[in-house]
Amino acid sequence: MQRSEYIGNFLEQIDCNSLLEKVKLEQGDKRSILGVKENVTWVSPDYNDAKRQMYETWEKAGYAEDGGSVEWINLYGGIHFDYDIVLKFSELVDATSHSCWVSQMPVGKCAPWHWDVNKDYDSIKNNPKMVRYSFFIDKPEPGKVFVINDEAHHMREQGSVYKWKKWDDWHLGFNCGLSEKFLFHFIGYSNT
Ligand SMILES: [Fe+2]
Repeated sequence: MQRSEYIGNFLEQIDCNSLLEKVKLEQGDKRSILGVKENVTWVSPDYNDAKRQMYETWEKAGYAEDGGSVEWINLYGGIHFDYDIVLKFSELVDATSHSCWVSQMPVGKCAPWHWDVNKDYDSIKNNPKMVRYSFFIDKPEPGKVFVINDEAHHMREQGSVYKWKKWDDWHLGFNCGLSEKFLFHFIGYSNT
C-alpha cells in the first residue's frame, strides 16, 4: 500500500542549501529517550500515556536510555531558521502550518518506530484537514533512511516533497550514512 504521494520538487522555490547552512549553525533541541522522558509535562492523560508507552517500548526493545543510538535534534521554524521558509512551504502545499521543523540526525543515530505525539493530539486527531509532508532538503546519500509505515524513502532527490496518506502514521528515521542527515517536516491544515 502506498503511504505517501510524490508532490514535486521545491528546490527552485526553496533554497535547501541555504537552509542547511543556517540550521548547521544552530544547536536546536536535542531528543533522546531520556529527553523524551524528561519532556513529558502534564497535558492530558492520553498524551502522557502515549509518550510513556513510546519510551517504554524503545527501552524494552533494548535501546539505551541515554548515550545509545536514539538521538536527533529538532530545529524549529521561526526559532532556528527563518519563518518565511515555513510560509513559503505552506503556500506551495496550500496549507496552514500546525508545526514545522527540521530534524537533524547525527551519524549512527536513529528515531525508532513511533508516531509523533503532539500536545494537542486529542483535538486534531480526527480533523479531516490535517496533512503532513516530508521535504527532503538533504542531498541523497546511502544510509540516510526514512520509513513511513512500510514504505522506505532512501536516496530521495534533494528538494523532493511527499505528502503522507495518513498524517499521523507510524514512522522511523535512521542515519547509517557518512554525514548528518536533515529532513524538513510539515504538519498543517489543508486550505482546500
Ligand atoms: Fe517522528
